[in-house]
Amino acid sequence: MGKLDGKVAVVTGGSSGLGRAIARRFVAEGARVVIGDIADEAGQEVADSLGDSARFRHCDVTRADDIEALVRTAPAEWGRLDIMVNNAGAVGARGSILDITPDEWGATMSLLLNSVFFGIRSAGRVMVDQGEGGSIISMASIAAFTPGNGPHVYGTAKAAVVHLTQRVSLELGEQRIRVNAICPGGIVTPLVLGALGLGEEHSDMMKEATASMRPYPRPGSPEDIAAAATWLASDDGEWVNGQAITVDGGESVGPRWSDQVVK
Ligand SMILES: NC(=O)c1ccc[n+]([C@@H]2O[C@H](COP(=O)([O-])OP(=O)(O)OC[C@H]3O[C@@H](n4cnc5c(N)ncnc54)[C@H](O)[C@@H]3O)[C@@H](O)[C@H]2O)c1
Repeated sequence: MGKLDGKVAVVTGGSSGLGRAIARRFVAEGARVVIGDIADEAGQEVADSLGDSARFRHCDVTRADDIEALVRTAPAEWGRLDIMVNNAGAVGARGSILDITPDEWGATMSLLLNSVFFGIRSAGRVMVDQGEGGSIISMASIAAFTPGNGPHVYGTAKAAVVHLTQRVSLELGEQRIRVNAICPGGIVTPLVLGALGLGEEHSDMMKEATASMRPYPRPGSPEDIAAAATWLASDDGEWVNGQAITVDGGESVGPRWSDQVVK
């Protein structure tokens, strides 16, 4: 028996990285999944590899109409919606606060924050009408509370995702719709490699490097985040609401400077 038997999910950014791992794990646990992404070919490949339990639909998460149509695909295909994962993202604008333009700021906020608002709103409406509760999960980051772990716009958007999650959980909780965020630490995906100007061939080197940055002695993987998302989406996570769950091998605890400094 799967942990998500009978449930129907929507996952944005499911063509790659964390979203792809979440879609795969959800299907392995018995769910049916609608994947939305702008990377059409890769998204269709993921859906095809999951057989009849998955669909792909083009969705630009910066567009409210696209998200609304994506979310409506779930009840149209399978009669219900139980889980919404607002995951799509990119590092966005980088550089000094002195140089960043309003357009760069706005585009990054649109991708990382507005998209989550659209996703919660569209999924929340379907879940409220359905009247059987639900689980909404948004991908924040440890950069939400350890600002050095990302560019300033990125961390600001992710902090706002955590705040929105907590605030909205107060509203939707009454309808048994749980709203939570996951805050991953650094996991080697195209997002991380691209931000560093590195290619797939640098993946192993980067995994070793990130493993040395945290107390737990192995690199994190997209499957670690998929496991957390599965727990939050399942009935096992039923009493978890309004939380930002950190999944980072201890990275956000900080370096063990005392071992070097205090002898
Ligand atoms: N990898 C990490 O270390 C890490 C850490 C913390 C948080 N996150 C967050 O996890 C999420 C997924 O990141 P990832 O590492 O899997 O990256 P990834 O690059 O592997 O995947 C991101 C996916 O989002 C899609 N996407 C980008 N812009 C989109 C848009 N406008 N509309 C629809 N889809 C779009 C991409 O096509 C891609 O498939 C992001 O929100 C990211 O900020 C990642």
